[in-house]
Formats: sequence, C-alpha cells, structure tokens
Amino acid sequence: MTHIWLRAEARATERRTPLLPDGAAQLIRDGARITVERSTTRVISDAAYSDAGCDLADTGSWPDAPRDAIILGLKELPDSDAPLTHRHIFFAHAYKGQPGAIPVLTRFADGGGTLLDLEYLVDGTGRRVAAFGYWAGYVGAAVSLLVYAAQKRGTSLDALNPWADSATMREDVAGALGSDMPAALIIGAKGRVGMGAADLFGALNISPTRWDMEETRSGGPFPEVARHEILVNAVLAMPGVPVFAGPDILATDRALRVIGDVACDPGTPYNPIPLYGDVTSWDAPALRVHGEPPLDIMAIDNLPSLLPREASEEFATALLPHLAALGTDDGGVWARAEETFRAHLSENGLTTSG
Ligand SMILES: NC(=O)c1ccc[n+]([C@@H]2O[C@H](COP(=O)([O-])OP(=O)(O)OC[C@H]3O[C@@H](n4cnc5c(N)ncnc54)[C@H](O)[C@@H]3O)[C@@H](O)[C@H]2O)c1
Repeated sequence: MTHIWLRAEARATERRTPLLPDGAAQLIRDGARITVERSTTRVISDAAYSDAGCDLADTGSWPDAPRDAIILGLKELPDSDAPLTHRHIFFAHAYKGQPGAIPVLTRFADGGGTLLDLEYLVDGTGRRVAAFGYWAGYVGAAVSLLVYAAQKRGTSLDALNPWADSATMREDVAGALGSDMPAALIIGAKGRVGMGAADLFGALNISPTRWDMEETRSGGPFPEVARHEILVNAVLAMPGVPVFAGPDILATDRALRVIGDVACDPGTPYNPIPLYGDVTSWDAPALRVHGEPPLDIMAIDNLPSLLPREASEEFATALLPHLAALGTDDGGVWARAEETFRAHLSENGLTTSG
C-alpha cells in the first residue's frame, strides 16, 4: 500500500500544499494511506485533511515516519546534516550547483534515500507534469508593479502578505499604479511564468512586449531591454542563456526601473540577470542595485505562495494523477525523476547504498 506523508513546510511563509483534501480522499479511496503533519501555515486546515480520512501527525515528525512512507512537501527540508532514508518528493533545487545543493545530495547519499524532485517530474516529451509557473508569473508581475509604484512615490515597498485571491491582489496593484502604465517586457513569454505575467499585465491594461527564444537568438547585447520600465525575466538559468541585463545596463541612459526576476537563480553562474547575489523576500521584496536613476530587483523565490489557494489548486490538480500512480510505471514519470537523481549523485561523486 502506498503511504504518502505530507510534511509541514519548514518555511514560515510557505502556505501552499501539493495535496488538497479532495485529492487525499481520492487517494485513500484508491487504497493509499495518507498522513498529514499538522501545520499552522498551510492554507488548508488540519481538520479538512482529517475529515478527508487522513491521519494527522506532529509537525516535523517525518524523520520518524515508517521507512516505506513517501515524504511529500514543496520547499526545502529543515536545516540538518542528518542522513535521509526515505523517498522524498519536493523542490530541492539541488541539480544546478545552487548553494546548499551538495549538502542535500550528500544527505540522500548518506542515508540511502531517494529524491524525486518536483522540478524534474516530466512526461515522455520532457514537459513538466506539474508546475507553479503560471501563478509565479502572475504574482511576480504584480509585485514588480508594486515595487515600481513605491519607487515612483519615493518609498520602498512594505512587507508583503499573502492575498486571499487574485482579484484582491489586482485591486491593490491597480490602486498603487493609478493612471501610470509603465512599459513592460517579458522574456520567456511563451512559458508558464511568461503567460501568467502577461495575463496580469493584460488585466491592468498594460500590453507587454513579449520575447522568447527567437528574440534573444542573437545572444545580445539587448539595448531594447533598457527602453522598458519593467523587465520580467522568466527564463530558467542554464548554460547558453545570454545575459539580458548585466552591470553594463546600470550606467546607460535607461528607462528600466524594476527587474522582476521571477526565474531568480542568483546562485548559479548562468544567471541571465547577473546584477545581484541573493534572493529577496516577502519582508524586503526589492533590492536597490543602483541609486540614480534607481533600479530595483525583485527576486522572491516563493511567489506563488502569495496566492496560496489558487496556486495550490492548480498544482495539486496536476500532480494528483501522478501521486495516484506512485508505485506503478506512470509512463515513466517517477522512474525518470529517479534516474535524474542518480545521475546527479554520480556527477557529484556521491554513491548511495539505497
Ligand atoms: N520565483 C518563483 O517563485 C518561481 C516559481 C515558479 C517557477 N519559477 C522559475 O521560473 C522559471 C520559468 O519557469 P516556467 O515554468 O515558465 O518555464 P517554462 O519552461 O514554461 O518557460 C520558459 C520559457 O523561456 C523560454 N526561453 C528559454 N530560453 C530562452 C532564451 N534564451 N531567450 C528567451 N526565452 C527563452 C522558453 O522558450 C519558454 O517559453 C524557472 O526558472 C522556474 O524555476 C520561479
């Protein structure tokens, strides 16, 4: 019997969940056992899971879960060096040389556990089966506009709190902008993040310039970037991605005032926005990288959690059929994720007994 253990998220701002009570009830009907750790931050109450037939467990008790339980979460595990013995499903951000990547892979190697990274759950064509990109782009564009509006008022954006829904969020952004309609550019516009960003801009009557592979094929430089007041970057940092806005842009005569780096991979050498060294946060959403004229970067790495309900609903719906197929071949989705994990272990000279 498949036993899925939904852990509580370690981050105080992480309110999303990859499994909703309806989905849990369906899995239980199909014969799975579901344990849910109590959480005070998750957007869904513990009682709703309990009503759906899940067992409740203490927050953070997953290290003591039965060895065959599959630990499901979204973001990073709590800081520790302890070996990992279970199968874990989450976004580990451990395959692109990110800070903290080797320590987490080492924990898996030491404990014989397996990482089934949500970012690498792909179908036979390489397309991700579940992603938060759309809402990341939607919220990322909204927060970029809020940063821009605050900058224009000569202030910096206050700490952010999750919105109840996207309509409330749009009202806040429209109120902050007033009649201002900044010129916006989205790079990576054909992807999930890019589509979400375009929809948010469109809902506010801003018609963004949209670039994807074709428009950046030259490899740069891209002087047009500086002619927009807002740049939303939705391109995953990877080898071969050109620099869209680097240090050269700071001193140019530019309209550019805000970069919303939704892809936000500042720790990798392939970052197409090599202007900053660390992500920003809900408490301090923008980082000023140049004073006059100002240039602020918004690089929050858990944007969809600012709309936790809508983001969870989309993601959990897409993931559910694959959770239902855990333990079966599922078109190779889980097998591919495991192969990816093993390849990254060996690339890093790590071996495992698992
Ligand atoms: N900040 C957050 O909270 C958050 C949340 C979710 C996703 N993300 C990140 O956002 C990024 C995009 O995710 P996605 O789901 O939209 O991916 P995606 O694969 O759906 O879209 C990426 C798009 O970028 C385009 N692209 C790739 N290389 C390009 C280039 N050189 N020039 C122009 N366009 C290029 C692709 O053609 C594609 O249309 C990822 O790095 C992801 O990790 C961030």
